[in-house]
Amino acid sequence: MSDDGNLRLGILASGTGTNFEAIVEAIDNRRLDARIAVLVCNRVEAPVIAKARSRGIETVLLSSKDHASRSDFDSALADVLQRHRVQLVVMAGFDRLVTPALLSRFPDRVINIHPALLPAFKGLDAQRQATEYGVKIAGATVHLVDEQMDHGPIIAQAAIAIAGGDDTETVRRRILAQEHDLYPMAIQLFAEDRIEVDGRKVKVRGETTPARDGALVSPTIAGGGAPQRTSR
Ligand code: GRF
Repeated sequence: MSDDGNLRLGILASGTGTNFEAIVEAIDNRRLDARIAVLVCNRVEAPVIAKARSRGIETVLLSSKDHASRSDFDSALADVLQRHRVQLVVMAGFDRLVTPALLSRFPDRVINIHPALLPAFKGLDAQRQATEYGVKIAGATVHLVDEQMDHGPIIAQAAIAIAGGDDTETVRRRILAQEHDLYPMAIQLFAEDRIEVDGRKVKVRGETTPARDGALVSPTIAGGGAPQRTSR
């Protein structure tokens, strides 16, 4: 913990940084008992850098070009994170797979957010994959990171209903809005020390059983009600 008792986060990002901003806002609004010890970015042109600097957040640029292998890069990354006394590594749009050189130094303490309901639609452009496949329910997943892409144990998921007319951009925007609530909530579970990992299962201490009728159903039919059953 920080001297102020807050969980010390190391954020890894490569792009726009809206999840980074959502985490900053949750901290500012005291929904999240954490502080950002450092932002590490691997792309000099990424807008997230200016977002962090304008808020006075320590920012480190680490380019893969300066490292001979993945594992060299990850060792340098782990060095930066440990130097900043990071307790939870938060990948927020970080476009690299990580190796044991990082994971072994932060066991069960590297997390990622993916814009799909895993294990469906791993990899790039998950929102397009889901829309083109024609699923009725899509969403976002926060999971622990292992060596495989979008694979580690699931911590939290949020779902949205997709209507027939929704295009990829609409779906992307609506999932992103869910991500911005889901990620700070999941990080707060670590801040409250409520996460227990048991193989693929993540147990959340103090979790309540969901209401049995709390289902998210799509399509929504105007006027409500279930489709009429025809009698035989
Ligand atoms: C998000 O959709 C996240 O799920 C994925 O990368 C995107 C990052 O967006 N891993 P942003 O940079 O946080 O705006």
